[in-house]
Amino acid sequence: MNELTIALAKGRLAEDAYNVFKGVNLANNVDLKSRKLIFEDKDQRLRFIIVKPSDVITYVEQGVADIGVVGKDTILEQGGNIYELLDLPFGECRFAVAGYKGKKINRKDEVLKVATKYPKITVDYFAEKGQRIQTIKLNGSVELAPLVGLSDVIVDIVETGNTLKANGLEVLEEMFEVRAKLIANRVSYRFKAKEINAIQTLLRDGRENFD
Ligand code: PRP
Ligand code: MG
Repeated sequence: MNELTIALAKGRLAEDAYNVFKGVNLANNVDLKSRKLIFEDKDQRLRFIIVKPSDVITYVEQGVADIGVVGKDTILEQGGNIYELLDLPFGECRFAVAGYKGKKINRKDEVLKVATKYPKITVDYFAEKGQRIQTIKLNGSVELAPLVGLSDVIVDIVETGNTLKANGLEVLEEMFEVRAKLIANRVSYRFKAKEINAIQTLLRDGRENFD
C-alpha cells in the first residue's frame, strides 16, 4: 500500500472533518489541540497535514497532499485542477447577500458596494443579475463593513445566522448552498486509486452515521 497524505482545513471545518475521519477509524493519531501541523499514522500508512482552508486546494493541486477536505465555497472561489470526489456530511451553509433590513440590492443605474471574502463568487453572481457592483475584498469579519459604511451589503456564508443577527443584519437574498467536499489530486487519483477509493468508500458508508 502507498502512503496517503490528507490535507485537513484548520478552523470551522477541522473538528467536523476530524470527527468524520475518526468515526471510520482514521485520524486516530491526530490531535487538533496541539500546535503540530503534521501527524503520521504508520499503521494505516496515512499522514494528515493541517493547513489553512484557503491553502487546501494548493496542497492537493500540487500533489503534496493526495486528498483533502475543503468547503465548496473555497472551491468555487479559487477553482483548481482537482477532482471533487464526495460530498461530506458537514459544513453545510449557504451563500447570501446580507445587509440592513430593507436595503435594496437591485439598483438599476447605481453601483452597489459589496464587501466579501469571495470576490469571484460575488462578481459572477451580480454579473448574472446585471447589477453593477464595486467589490471590496476583506479577509474576515465581513459583517462589520455595512455597519461602518464601508459597503452597502455583504456576500458571505451563513450557517446559524448568529453573526448576522448579532450585528443587526439580515439575509436580503439567498444565493446557493455549499458544504464540505473530499477532493483529490488528479495524478494521485490514478496512481493511488485503490487507497483513495478505500477511504472514499469508508467515508461514504460511514456518512449515514453522521447525518
Ligand atoms: C463565518 C462567515 C460568517 C459566519 C457565519 O465567519 O464568514 O461570518 O461564519 O456563521 P453563522 O451564520 O453561524 O454566524 P468566520 O467565523 O469563519 O470568521 P471570519 O469571517 O472572520 O473569517
Ligand atoms: Mg465571518
